[in-house]
Amino acid sequence: MTLAEDSLVDARSRRIKVHGPEAFEGMRVAGKLAAECLDMLTPHVQPGVSTALLDRLAREFILDHGALPACLFYRGYGYTLCISPNHVVCHGAPGERVLKEGDIANIDVTVIVDGWHGDTSRMYALGEIAPRARRLIDVSYEGLERGLAQVKPGARLGDIGHAIQSYVEAQRCSVVRDFCGHGLGRIFHDAPNILHYGRPGAGDVLQEGMFFTVEPMVNLGRPQVKLLADGWTAVTRDKSLSAQCEHSVGVTADGCEIFTRSPAGLFKPV
Ligand code: MF3
Ligand code: CO
Ligand code: CO
Repeated sequence: MTLAEDSLVDARSRRIKVHGPEAFEGMRVAGKLAAECLDMLTPHVQPGVSTALLDRLAREFILDHGALPACLFYRGYGYTLCISPNHVVCHGAPGERVLKEGDIANIDVTVIVDGWHGDTSRMYALGEIAPRARRLIDVSYEGLERGLAQVKPGARLGDIGHAIQSYVEAQRCSVVRDFCGHGLGRIFHDAPNILHYGRPGAGDVLQEGMFFTVEPMVNLGRPQVKLLADGWTAVTRDKSLSAQCEHSVGVTADGCEIFTRSPAGLFKPV
């Protein structure tokens, strides 16, 4: 996800690109590989696994499929995955850290296939997790679903944000404001910013052929985040748990196509 304020969005183009059928086909292939990468990781996400191992598995999988890991060397980031456990909101760097029983973690991957970006993330539960952690995961999934349900030509970006925010807050959780979804395609982080909060009827009008991610970050406590000294890792200020899930989608004539659906049906953990 991109920083909502000083965003990673390519400053050269604020205009929202509208793509044709060949681009849809490119995104379908990229989105599928990203989803398959997370499917591949699923059996490995067990208590005791190191985040460095998951990163290596993902990198090898992507390279073996003739694709590129988009995050590796992206703006100085050094990994294939972002792995964000518990109170880490996003951009957690893989390393020595070992995931343990009771943790929840978001794993985010972006692949480049023939120049097209597939960007997706899911929540993973490590063994038995607390009921409040389960509830938070469920709220983040349902928030994404409700946001995506708004996507169709003629709708506005604010409709997406409002659908997510009103649902999440009714569940007594909060929506992170500091990061947002983004346009993507041949560019990783492109216009528009997709805010996960907002007012119905506000913002740019959606058109068939627009591509973007929806990737709400939902906290059990307050929405404020803090950036750690590494300049990447974002955590909740109040140390409350955070969850996120992300799809890459394209606007179609009557709704949206989700490019990053899990072929194995593993997008939502049971
Ligand atoms: N995949 C993230 C997103 O959803 C971006 C991660 S950027 C990185 O946009 F550099 F941290 F990898
Ligand atoms: Co993204
Ligand atoms: Co992502």
